Amino acid sequence: MINKQMFQFPITYTLPLARIAIGWGAHETVADECKGVNIKKALIVTTGLKGTGIVDEIKQILTTNGVAAEIYDKVTSNPKEHEVMEAYNVFKDAECDGVVSVGGGSSHDCGKMLRIVFANDGQNICDFAAYIDRPWTEVAAKSKPPTIPQVSVNTTGGTGAEATAAAMVTSKKHRAKLGMLMPALAPNIALVDPLLIRLMPQNIAAWTGYDAFAHGFDSFLSRIQSQYTLAISLWTIKLVAENLREFVYNRMNQVACENMCWAENMMVAGLHLGGGAGIVHAIGHQIGALTDAHHGLLNAVVTLPLQRHNEATCPEKFAAMARAMGVDTRGMTKMQAADKWFDEVERLLADLNIKTGHLHEQFGLQEKDLDHIVKICSNDWCSEGNPRAFDYNEYLALLKSML
Ligand SMILES: [Fe+2]
Repeated sequence: MINKQMFQFPITYTLPLARIAIGWGAHETVADECKGVNIKKALIVTTGLKGTGIVDEIKQILTTNGVAAEIYDKVTSNPKEHEVMEAYNVFKDAECDGVVSVGGGSSHDCGKMLRIVFANDGQNICDFAAYIDRPWTEVAAKSKPPTIPQVSVNTTGGTGAEATAAAMVTSKKHRAKLGMLMPALAPNIALVDPLLIRLMPQNIAAWTGYDAFAHGFDSFLSRIQSQYTLAISLWTIKLVAENLREFVYNRMNQVACENMCWAENMMVAGLHLGGGAGIVHAIGHQIGALTDAHHGLLNAVVTLPLQRHNEATCPEKFAAMARAMGVDTRGMTKMQAADKWFDEVERLLADLNIKTGHLHEQFGLQEKDLDHIVKICSNDWCSEGNPRAFDYNEYLALLKSML
């Protein structure tokens, strides 16, 4: 029978987002926000943020304002399955009734996933991963939705995880990062405070800021998109192009810091208003599962070769992104203008001290792992929206060229 499906994504869905508070001093409202969602005893879920004093300050604000607090501070970058289960056990044993996640994407995602495990009587978090059994919506439908509240206090400039209804866990068994996507997963409120975000070390500021940029271009290029995402992603690209360098190298530049807060948060709002991510995120995720390298840095090192591979499918979009980065494309052909985006990104990467490719030298990735990465990516939700259709051999060759 002839396949009469005309559109790959005939219906665009939005997902719930946390209510978001952005501004200097926003973290000081954490106790009031906890009380607003009936948290009497919070588990602070965090990587620890050593040397910043942030976790101690959040605990103090909570306890002096009548919200009891325990701390689970063993979350690591690319949060692992056992960390989620350990956080769940601490939450249960301490008889907490809500989560306060403090940090970047790893802390917020661990907090979200703890809530899934709690709602499903301690079942292993990987049972709820969207990659393993398609369609994804059926996986979510089989699980009970999270009911305990979460307040997220963000401290990085790129994740967006403080506000979204998605989370990712690294599974040793699957040697992959697995995604959860369910409407009730978004925190109740996200506090995005430039005061905390400017405390990031320089390299983390560059890498997380680049992640915001990657959300912008992956979403703008995606085949899963809406009028919301088209507008928001271009503005995000512009904000990053105009502010990331200044933010990385002068953390006291308050305008750059505020603008990076907006860039990181607006774009995830865009993603959850109907956009998808793309191949940079798909491959970046799965290299991260094997090497434990930073998510934003991995997105950065694979951007140029992977987007060159996409360029011919939608040059007008690359041209629009070049214009968003400040390039005057008048008088250029469509392809000339599209090429200018790559020049701008190459310059941005150099300014951030990020080297493209060299995946073995930089992260220890082995050639024998490439086949596994491409196979997992073929089933990654980020690949599905990528403008160029997925082809195993093409991506294997691309990864080899980056090794
Ligand atoms: Fe990302």
